[in-house]
Amino acid sequence: MPPIEHEWPNFAGVPEDDTLTMTRPKGQRLARWVWYDGDLRKAESLNVHYYANALHYGTAVFEGIRCYPTDRGPVLLRLGDHISRFMASASLYGMSMPYDEGALFAACLEVTRKNGIDNGYIRPLAYFGEGPIDLKPKKECPVRVFVAIRELGIFLGDGALRNGVRMTVSSWRKAHHTVYPTQAKASGHYANMVLAAHEAMDRGFDDAILLTQEGTVSSATGQNLFFVKSGTLVTNDETSSIVPGITRDCILKLAADMSMPVQVRSFTREELLRADEVFMTGTAAEVTPVREIDGVVFDTGKNTVGALFQRSYLRAVTGKDDRYAHWLTSL
Ligand SMILES: Cc1ncc(COP(=O)(O)O)c(C=O)c1O
Repeated sequence: MPPIEHEWPNFAGVPEDDTLTMTRPKGQRLARWVWYDGDLRKAESLNVHYYANALHYGTAVFEGIRCYPTDRGPVLLRLGDHISRFMASASLYGMSMPYDEGALFAACLEVTRKNGIDNGYIRPLAYFGEGPIDLKPKKECPVRVFVAIRELGIFLGDGALRNGVRMTVSSWRKAHHTVYPTQAKASGHYANMVLAAHEAMDRGFDDAILLTQEGTVSSATGQNLFFVKSGTLVTNDETSSIVPGITRDCILKLAADMSMPVQVRSFTREELLRADEVFMTGTAAEVTPVREIDGVVFDTGKNTVGALFQRSYLRAVTGKDDRYAHWLTSL
């Protein structure tokens, strides 16, 4: 592949900056205060009923939102988009959300402020609570909502952003969008991903890639997939039973602003294995290079397209690129 500077002149303008990630917390410390059903409460005072419908049948919907430190204080990334997706997930599961978008937006900011966290991961979750043993929770089970926050540094391990991760293709296929609404972030869907992640771990890999029922590539367990071949960036869409990620959308916007050739279409495992580079995107995983899939090795390192996106993304989300200031909400 030719040096990237020749293809995209903007590349040279993106500095490498490890300080963006070196100062991250190591663990995932839980915060003291949780917004629960409308009020800020101490975490240790909270409990979930043992007959909560969600515990038995996976009937919860949730979001994951990053909080980043910037020179102007902590910011939440694409908060409005996350809250909209949260509402859409709830609606698909017949949950009538007791709070409107404005209240949930404010709750995310309030819980972040109260806990004094800047490198954080915010988890709004709505679930069907206690009620009869039946599969019609929308009839009688109350909808309970909380917004929690915890610290989060580099999600897929300390070296993941710099060195990349090792992936395996799972023997578990991704549930099809005709099985359940795969675009929703619903707890029940993640049993599929847990099986794949455990299998990957047991085989000695960092994470798994799931294929669709048709045999094309879907996504990693909690990340969207991109690959680069001969200077073109490729990713799939919701017809591949993915959650169309908000991070994925950031990358597509960055690519458009760099005038990089992009294709959004389904692709096969073979095409993925023949790629020059592969990387994954997600709120938690950010932009993580894939260095290997089942023994097939890909280009990684600072002169790759993936590194360009990683740096551009990290600069945007930490307030270092004014063109993307509208992605950020201050506390
Ligand atoms: C299955 C799955 N795919 C993709 C993503 C990436 O989505 P986002 O970038 O909005 O975090 C996530 C994480 O939310 C996920 O759970």
